[in-house]
Amino acid sequence: MRFVMVAAGVCLGLCAGVWAQGKPAADAAASRIWQGVYTAAQADRGKAAYTSNCLRCHGGDLLGVTAPSLTGERFMASWSGEHVGRLYEKIRDTMPPNFGSVIDNAAKLDVVAYILQANGFPAGTSDLGVDPAALATMHILRRGEQPRVQNFALVQTIGCLTRATDNSWRLTRTVEPVTAREDAPDAAALAAAAGAPLGAQTFVLLSAKPFNPEAQVGRKVVARGLVYRDGADARLTLTALQAVGGCSP
Ligand code: HEC
Repeated sequence: MRFVMVAAGVCLGLCAGVWAQGKPAADAAASRIWQGVYTAAQADRGKAAYTSNCLRCHGGDLLGVTAPSLTGERFMASWSGEHVGRLYEKIRDTMPPNFGSVIDNAAKLDVVAYILQANGFPAGTSDLGVDPAALATMHILRRGEQPRVQNFALVQTIGCLTRATDNSWRLTRTVEPVTAREDAPDAAALAAAAGAPLGAQTFVLLSAKPFNPEAQVGRKVVARGLVYRDGADARLTLTALQAVGGCSP
């Protein structure tokens, strides 16, 4: 109950959509873009639209001229971890950058399909549509890569419990959080965590007190809670905190 209230306070309704989508959506997102999110015919239309509207700046084969390349390492450096909705919005709202060009949003969506095809994402059986909720599930990631969990998702992570000089509780040497289904880890999750490696991230822990952190300081712990990250600011509002071993260097 406590964490729900904290979360509600943090969210201010912002994350209602995240709640509504729930965790299954996040799990499905892992491979969505690799299941084929556009059709080959759409990518062909997109190539034609690209050729007349984008090529003069972004170059043949999307390789870049006066504007950045939209393929390969350059593309992944800008877009990896983002979802296709953001790529579409960037193009819809700002490209081409000059006024008076005549390319409608449907054609811009086709160009997105062409860009995805050029970057090795497979074609599927239905066209890429404008539905923002659907676009948000398509993360631009290399095959097998997991999308970063959404803010306010319930997650599990493993790290070292540390007390900072300002007396706040921190989780240091923390691994990248993964989506969790239950507020607290079961015996199997604890056993797996005991043998798992530590990481390099740091999270500020909120609502640590009910979990008796004094008794676990300096230990390797499994933490579950609601994650929030914004730049260097990384926080976890705890729903569980349990020591599983030591934290030797
Ligand atoms: C007049 C030149 C010009 C035209 C035409 C143009 N762009 Fe751009 N585009 C740019 C420039 C310059 C940038 C870099 C600055 C920025 O991100 O706004 C850019 C950036 C982008 C980016 C972000 C690249 C990244 O990885 O950061 C995308 C995506 C993009 N353009 C797509 C398109 C598409 C699709 C079209 C055609 C519908 C198009 N552009 C037409 C000049 C152009």
